[in-house]
Amino acid sequence: MTELNEKPETPAGQHTGAVGPGPLNGSMQTFLSEVQSDLAQGMLSPRVLNDPELHQAELEHIFNKCWVFVGHVSEIPNNGDYVLRYMGEDQFIMVRDEQGEIQLLLNSCMHRGSPVCRAEKGNSSHFRCPYHGWIYKNSGDWNGAPQRAKAYRKFDGADWGLRKAPQVDTYQGLIFACLDPDAVSLREYLGDMCWYLDVLLGLNEQGMTTVGDPHRWEVPSNWKSGADNFVGDAYHVIALHQSLEEIGVLGGDVAKGVGANFHVALDGGHGLIVTHMPMPEPLGYMGFPPEVHSTFDLKGLDENQRAFLDGDHGVVGFTIFPNLSFFRSFGATEPGKPPAVFTLLRQWQPKGPENFELWNWSLEWKSAPKEFNDAAYRAGVGSFGPSGIFEQDDTVAWAGGPPTGRSVFARKTMKFNYQMGMEGMGDYAIREDWMGPGTASTTPWGEMNQRRWWQQWSDRLMAQ
Ligand code: FES
Ligand SMILES: [Fe+2]
Repeated sequence: MTELNEKPETPAGQHTGAVGPGPLNGSMQTFLSEVQSDLAQGMLSPRVLNDPELHQAELEHIFNKCWVFVGHVSEIPNNGDYVLRYMGEDQFIMVRDEQGEIQLLLNSCMHRGSPVCRAEKGNSSHFRCPYHGWIYKNSGDWNGAPQRAKAYRKFDGADWGLRKAPQVDTYQGLIFACLDPDAVSLREYLGDMCWYLDVLLGLNEQGMTTVGDPHRWEVPSNWKSGADNFVGDAYHVIALHQSLEEIGVLGGDVAKGVGANFHVALDGGHGLIVTHMPMPEPLGYMGFPPEVHSTFDLKGLDENQRAFLDGDHGVVGFTIFPNLSFFRSFGATEPGKPPAVFTLLRQWQPKGPENFELWNWSLEWKSAPKEFNDAAYRAGVGSFGPSGIFEQDDTVAWAGGPPTGRSVFARKTMKFNYQMGMEGMGDYAIREDWMGPGTASTTPWGEMNQRRWWQQWSDRLMAQ
């Protein structure tokens, strides 16, 4: 029985290097080259919204390579606090270990792959696999197994800890993790987006905190439709959300409001929709009443960042490549009450090429009075959430992506149009006097941000 005495050839629980992002096959390379030449013409194949091969390539070349948002620091304030999170389709335990370090541990036992953590959230110093009882510390280290003295005498536990994200970092309370040990730092990955995160989330020392758990629900669409919408699509509001004006839920003229939008495109596929518009009465500075904005301390911001804040740029949405979006706006609270400004984080979690899970975190200012935060929460959930008045419109529209992407006839005969704002189309131009980093547009009537998001997507898939 040599088998029993055989020493494993690959210690440390590591694979041998045979698995991992591999080169794309020739037909995929050809397709992606076509995507890039199409984008230069303002077009995009519907295949991108439903293709199992592309989906697998995204998991390998995007979700295993990029910095991916996994949560907010306020969700795990104490050592031992954990929540379950996803990077691509892999489930991780996001846990603050006994040293206070944030770890992203793959929720797969090193023995047979069973999930070692079955609860969505909690506090624990250890995770014990239910199958055979292997135990891991909350740092991921292997800690023991039943009958160890009889079953694993020569076993080196140091080799058999849970697999973990090699890089984890935070910026303005947002936690990101990266599965590529050789990737650039989070600061470098976010690049100019840091400037905007400072003015949106870093307005005082106390910062923001999540309100409860993220709401999450399934959407029969491809995850990229959400990222594409929030990176630059102000245009759809005048059509898809028009009914909200008609039934009197949205105060004011929707077309006028949308006309006050413009784009800011950043390197790395990140992009923002910014609105230059005074907030409706009785909302004040950036939509914050005096008792809230008096708690802001802008000392850490530079002159241009302060000019941004003073410049009526209250409504802002963005996408950080690949799948984190953000929206701060004002929304209705309840009949007869004034609107309130809400702040949301939104994530488009892929579940195969035809479905995603939408995760929606409400944020509130720790320094703000409870009445303001309660009103902001109601406004946010009422606008975006499983029953949000905007959300119901958006997700139904996005559901058209997968059937079109799957259609043989559509793939043969059509390309999506991304030409808005291109040469000769209108007055969409580069704003020369923009005080922030990135390339800003003069109007919302263009699709620069979306084209750049898709360019980044195809660059990432083609990179070896
Ligand atoms: S699968 Fe976890 S102990 Fe066996
Ligand atoms: Fe929308």
